[in-house]
Amino acid sequence: MNDQPHKLRFLRAALDQRIEEGRLRDLRAYEADLNAPFVRLNNRKLINFCSNDYLGLSTHPEVIERSVSYTQKYGAGSGASRLVSGTLTIHEQLEEKLADSFGVEAVLLFNSGFQANISLLPALADRNSLILADRKSHNSLLQGALLSNAELKRFWHNDYDHLEDLLRKSNKKDYNRIWIVSETVFSMDGDQSDIDKLIQLANQYGALLYSDDAHALGVLGPKGLGLNYQKEGITLGLGTFGKAFGSFGAFIGCSKTMKEYLINFCSGFIYTTALPPGVIGAVDAALGLIPRMETERTTLLENVQYLKASLSNLGYNPGASESQIIPVVIGSEKETVDLSNYLETKGFWASAIRPPTVEKGASRIRLTLTAKHTRSQIDDLISAFTEWKNR
Ligand SMILES: Cc1ncc(COP(=O)(O)O)c(C=O)c1O
Repeated sequence: MNDQPHKLRFLRAALDQRIEEGRLRDLRAYEADLNAPFVRLNNRKLINFCSNDYLGLSTHPEVIERSVSYTQKYGAGSGASRLVSGTLTIHEQLEEKLADSFGVEAVLLFNSGFQANISLLPALADRNSLILADRKSHNSLLQGALLSNAELKRFWHNDYDHLEDLLRKSNKKDYNRIWIVSETVFSMDGDQSDIDKLIQLANQYGALLYSDDAHALGVLGPKGLGLNYQKEGITLGLGTFGKAFGSFGAFIGCSKTMKEYLINFCSGFIYTTALPPGVIGAVDAALGLIPRMETERTTLLENVQYLKASLSNLGYNPGASESQIIPVVIGSEKETVDLSNYLETKGFWASAIRPPTVEKGASRIRLTLTAKHTRSQIDDLISAFTEWKNR
């Protein structure tokens, strides 16, 4: 089929290099049932400590029931992109409900957080713009910034003196607009940005603010509605449905004019089939449940404190985490993979995160706690870390 195999030698070479560096990634298929946090992996029952289903909503009966009933009522697919004939009334109703719940002027659905992040900045910035992004911003945000052709400068992680310095210097140049880009909860470290400070700097220097709330949503902020919630001065706030919402997709909160503009100019919104009814149903149900899950959130956040303190007492470094994402920074790729494998032998799924997802020397086990974990499961995990430490 391919008469020029030498042209594809780079594939094997790149993979071999990844193997040599201890950074090869592979996919692991598991069997799910409705009994989170348990999964079956390689025919073994494991407790999943690396899922972003923070509230366990992916298996919540109401979420499943509404997803099924929407599918039965409206079909398995939406049939076209939103602008052609893919906008069902349920898409618009969900957008209105989200805008109402989050207290924003308008909401626009996207098919995933990645798709939103990679296509929003190219629609909102150009070669005459400046993007100032936190160094630890998610890959999708950085890819979007690169695609926009704007000048991209990355400020040191959560270092607002550095950001202000860059803003001050930028005033001397004639940018058409300046975007500040950050996350509320950083996906690999679980620490938080200071959203009030970001808003203040954006206001002070006439910049626009894009804040990705993917990991706070459902867990943090009033009623679990995230850390962007009720903050005046965010130009564009992103939320995702694949994490605490338990299903799939994303949305942005913005002004009505911004929404109208994006419907006309954002390729990641325009050139893709609209989210299917089953997803809309699941999100609709999750949206109703999340504000009512205060008890689950309290327990989850107590468990976070407990696990973080226990890991620190053992001499592990959970970094500056202030959320359900708890990194256990090990350093070397090999040791991190060995620890992940060891945890698996003890009945826990806790995957190793290595460069290029994190910087060199910062390989880690990224633990995530969910409302489904019990204190005794967490104690068992801590025992496994203790045994590894004392081996
Ligand atoms: C901060 C952040 N933004 C966006 C995304 C992408 O969202 P999605 O999984 O919906 O594509 C992720 C997920 O990995 C993320 O961590």
